[in-house]
This record gives sequence, C-alpha cells and structure tokens, in this order.
Amino acid sequence: MKKVTVPTLYSMKKRGEKIVMVTAYDATTANIVDEAGVDVILVGDSLGNVIQGLPNTLSVTMDEMIYHVKIVSRGVKRAHLCGDMPFMSYQVSKERAIENAGRFVKEAGAESVKIEINENYLETVNAISRAGIPVMGHIGLCPQSIHLTGGYKVQGREESEARRLLELAIAAKEAGAFSLVLESIPKELAKKITESIDIPTIGIGAGPFCDGQVLVINDLLGISPEPVPRFVKKYANLRETMLRAIREFAHEVREGTFPDEEHSYS
Ligand code: KIV
Repeated sequence: MKKVTVPTLYSMKKRGEKIVMVTAYDATTANIVDEAGVDVILVGDSLGNVIQGLPNTLSVTMDEMIYHVKIVSRGVKRAHLCGDMPFMSYQVSKERAIENAGRFVKEAGAESVKIEINENYLETVNAISRAGIPVMGHIGLCPQSIHLTGGYKVQGREESEARRLLELAIAAKEAGAFSLVLESIPKELAKKITESIDIPTIGIGAGPFCDGQVLVINDLLGISPEPVPRFVKKYANLRETMLRAIREFAHEVREGTFPDEEHSYS
C-alpha cells in the first residue's frame, strides 16, 4: 500500500488517471472509504449540512473542523487527507489563514487544506502554500458565498464569467494551489480549465472532463434526504436499507422476539 501524496496526484493527472475524492466525517466511514481505494478523503465543511443538520455551511467552526479531521485521520491509511477551511477561518487575514491551516496539519493530521477562492484570495493561497501546506482551491459555486451569489446556482454560464473563472484557475495555479475543485460549472468550461492548467481539477457538477470527481459520501450512498442536486448519482439506497433495519429491530423488540436464545447469555 503506497500513501497518496501531492506528487502522486500530479502524476495521476500526467498519466490521465482519474482521481477519486469522497468526503468523510468520522473514523469508521473514513476507514471504509480508504479500504475502497479512494485517492483523496475530504473532510468537507459540508458536515454543516450532513452531520449538523444546518441549512448551509456558514456557521461551521474551526474547532468543529479540527475535531472531525482528527477523528477521520484515525481511519485513513492510504488516501491523501484534505481538511476544508470553514467560513471566516482564512478571510480575515493571511496571518490568520496560515495559523488556521497550520492547525489542520499540526492538531488534526491533515495533509492539505481546501479553501473557496476568488481573486481576493490568491495571496492567501500563496501564503499558505509557502508555509509548506498544500492548498486545494475551490472555484465555481462556492457555498460559503451563497449570500453574495444568491444561492446554489450554476456558475460560469455567461461568457464573461466563464473567462473570469478560467483566468482565476490559472492564477490559482500560479499562486501555488496544488489542485482545484470545480463546482457546478458547465462541462465545456471545466474541460477548458482542465486543459489549461497542469494541476489536477476535481469536479462536482462540472461534467466528465475533469481530472477527478468528488461526491459527498451521504449523497453517493443514498442517505441524504431528497432533494439532492442534479449532479448527485446515488450508488446505493442506504436510507431505505437503514430504515428497514431499524424498523425491523423496533418491531422485534415490541413483539418480544428480540433478543432470542441465540443473542442471550445463560
Ligand atoms: O464541503 C464539501 O464537502 C465540499 C465538496 C463537496 C467539494 O466542498
């Protein structure tokens, strides 16, 4: 088993080998995701929605992220582990951004951090990566900016916006980002960005031409309640399976058929 590192991800792009990224928020799930051979595990601030039941990611804190990255790291052997920097952990100043990125590595065991960027954060990307911490940029739909953009909308459909995103991707690479998440942008734009930079692009709602793909674990396993975004493909229906199992347990307890002889001590 060879650990996936940043250079591994560069080589995968060079070889045209697709990168698989999945989110995880706890050690048990991370262990299963790792055993499945996923290349990158992202502890996303999507834990605000998925774990905390919040309507968006804006109130997720540094301490909550550190806690989840720390417990995820206990379940990971092979995958590269990336921690998502929450809202207001990198926006205030470059110094604060470096300090907080450092906490992900020193306290929690992350091997890189992800930040949602626009042109205002290129210096922050540069400062964190110069401090020795690999930075994954996130462009297109940035959930931490929903109040500015008016919601969860596809980005880059207008020609001027598409040009801006392409230039931002190139600038992010120049600033030192080691990879880029492209969220909810037209597939032809994602293709152009992917062909224009030599760092891996990882798409979510960005079509098939990215160097890799990411999905939120609860979405791909079919645990998330409806509605889920159009880009989500459910590879299982665990919500149904879990409901069936829990209802069966409740039924047997109420009927007095559990525990039976087999599950009792004498
Ligand atoms: O927070 C998250 O899980 C993410 C991924 C969906 C890319 O940002």
